[in-house]
Amino acid sequence: MSEDRPELNAQKTSSGATKKTGAGKDTFENVLPLVDPYGRKVTGLRVSITERCNLTCMYCHHEGAEGCTRGSSEKEMPPELICSIVHTAAKFGVRKVKFSGGEPLLRKDFEEILACLPSLKEVSATTNGILLAKRAKTLKAAGLDRVNVSLDSLVPERYEAITGAPPGTLEKVLQGIDRAVEAGLTPVKLNMVLLRGVNDDEIDSMMDFIRPYGGQVILQLIELMDIDPELAPYMIDSESLKKTLAKRAKEVRVRHLHHRKKYMIDGVEVEFVQPMDNSEFCANCSRLRVTADGKLKPCLLVNDNLVDAMGAGDQEEIEELLRLAVNRRKPYYRKEISVD
Ligand code: 5AD
Repeated sequence: MSEDRPELNAQKTSSGATKKTGAGKDTFENVLPLVDPYGRKVTGLRVSITERCNLTCMYCHHEGAEGCTRGSSEKEMPPELICSIVHTAAKFGVRKVKFSGGEPLLRKDFEEILACLPSLKEVSATTNGILLAKRAKTLKAAGLDRVNVSLDSLVPERYEAITGAPPGTLEKVLQGIDRAVEAGLTPVKLNMVLLRGVNDDEIDSMMDFIRPYGGQVILQLIELMDIDPELAPYMIDSESLKKTLAKRAKEVRVRHLHHRKKYMIDGVEVEFVQPMDNSEFCANCSRLRVTADGKLKPCLLVNDNLVDAMGAGDQEEIEELLRLAVNRRKPYYRKEISVD
């Protein structure tokens, strides 16, 4: 059956599949899921809704955008297109959507975008938290389930050095986290990109910081992606960190997405995300990305295979573009196979 042949699934559209069943109804049972040529099913979308940002983080990979100009609002997808893409993807098995930027809260119509989405297992956003305090409630009401907040340091001077933010910004972010917890945008995950000699001595203070939230805030430690050679000196020793975390953990769990490890340590949950040179990360990747200017992006680290969906007219066209992009998905890091 074609369901067992991902390379075929990736090329066909659902219309064929629904006709073949003869059921005449577009149910989840008779539509072809989005499966790439490597058998990886796409169940999540990561949608950048703006390249604009109010920070200049020293490590930012700009969601893989090439020659990033920090964007302008003119080139951004309108809410209708974002909703059509998500509706179509949901029809073919996408259950989770994460919105990112730039800084997604710079889009004043973010609530409008959220309000037109289909029902999904999880709708989340990655934000720097600066504008979160004011909007946590309205975002939740519009359908946002939870947030990731980028927080690399609890020391104001360090926070400012890493992010380029003016004094007083860290306080706003901390308020944003409180309001997000109050509004129920939980669990709130704190994204802490580990930078050797800059913030790698703050893991324990970060754990102490989240403990009082009693499980509503989770710490997500992120291995730096040294997309720029200048970042190489800031790479931490991930192997020794993993050993330390495992030694201290009462329990270690593995998430399907990217095979991320979760450690339960002293009453807090710590996740470690290690994307670099990690074949397991890629083998278990279930995401397709969408750029702020409406291009379907099969991989964060590849820029020559994007599929432009900006002018797409209807869901049938979007479906074809989605399948084309899924068909171009390829694990960036793959296990070396020895041939002896
Ligand atoms: N390395 C790792 N993570 C990065 N992010 C952005 N740039 C990098 C990088 N070079 C991630 C962080 C941040 C989010 C907005 O994007 O998790 O919190």
